[in-house]
Amino acid sequence: MFELVKEQTMSQKILVSKKMKMLSLAGYLETLANKTGEDFSSLEAIANSMFSFMNGERHFQFRRLIAAPMSSKSMEGYHPIFRSIADETINRLKKASCPDLIADFADPIYVLSVEKILGLKVDDEVGFLEDVDTAATLVEPLLPLRQLKIVQNTLVRLYKWVSNQESSFAEGSVAAQVYSKYQGVISHQEMIVLLLTLVIAARTTSETIANIIIENSKLSPDKVALMTSPEWVEKNVDTLIRYCASTEYLTRVASEDQCICGRSIKKGEQLFIHVPSANRDPSYFDDTEYKNILSSAPCKHMSFGSGAHRCPGAEMSKVTIKTILPLLYQEIPTLSCCTDAIHYKKTTFALRISSVPAII
Ligand code: HEM
Repeated sequence: MFELVKEQTMSQKILVSKKMKMLSLAGYLETLANKTGEDFSSLEAIANSMFSFMNGERHFQFRRLIAAPMSSKSMEGYHPIFRSIADETINRLKKASCPDLIADFADPIYVLSVEKILGLKVDDEVGFLEDVDTAATLVEPLLPLRQLKIVQNTLVRLYKWVSNQESSFAEGSVAAQVYSKYQGVISHQEMIVLLLTLVIAARTTSETIANIIIENSKLSPDKVALMTSPEWVEKNVDTLIRYCASTEYLTRVASEDQCICGRSIKKGEQLFIHVPSANRDPSYFDDTEYKNILSSAPCKHMSFGSGAHRCPGAEMSKVTIKTILPLLYQEIPTLSCCTDAIHYKKTTFALRISSVPAII
């Protein structure tokens, strides 16, 4: 059993420490392949190009490439598109005969964001969502061999899906911007995997929106009414994300012996941060319960991580939430969910809901 880091200050220090590194998945796969004789070469090649597993200068090059397309200025420029995504998905939820918050609202937000903001066309919505679910399990620890094979086949399929579209990325989209600038910075394969990484990671936003709506179902109607105010949501968006982000665990490995917050850490030791606990650490935050969200002060939360790997999609997710949430509650003020009928996906690193009936 691993010892979990649950304190905000220690989590923050681990994530900014230059002596704490991302796990090398490609190295792990190579060892596994040598031990079992299984062929993981395709998965290894993709994992090797995923910047979320990189450290140092190579990682920094990828981050520089997406800095402008993913910036707050760029995301604010997409506001009319986020608005159209909000209108379309709210309508879909209103028209559903037995509305489900995930199938009729959260998943459509994600698919439309992939198409209109990231710039990749989704033809088979159901198959695509299943593939992203499978691909996202790549970061989970100790996946059985059989599951790793499935992840490999899925990632190869998604890789082809991105690469088949490279001459037709939506105009002005994130993909089109990255595509116009990658040459001379990263290889062609790395560019495809970079876009794929953004697509897979982007799902956290719609998962977080679903979690916010579920948590709101437990609040009194006068408190829920505040969500109709764009100004209120703008001011409190980080607190909403602090309490409701779907991220559960972050992990790092020590590259040297060190001491953080009085805890000695040995070279090679792997640490797991439990994000919901760090985000409710009573020694750091004045408010630790969602029902007190109305009086919470702006905060430095761990939902987007911190340091070199801090989420590059933070601005995209905040603009999405700020645009969609007020419109949703203006259109459906009585929205709530059957919180005793929530079904979860089988994951360990994130709290992912597969379905929950919505009451509108
Ligand atoms: C509320 C929504 C989101 C949350 C809570 C979230 C959370 C996080 C966290 C905690 C990390 C750091 C992981 C670590 O340090 O181990 C991360 C990294 C990342 N996120 Fe997000 N994310 C969100 C939305 C997005 C979106 C919309 C995108 C892209 C469109 C995205 C793309 C990424 C990528 C590519 C990384 C890896 C960055 C790196 O390793 O340098 N995320 N995210």
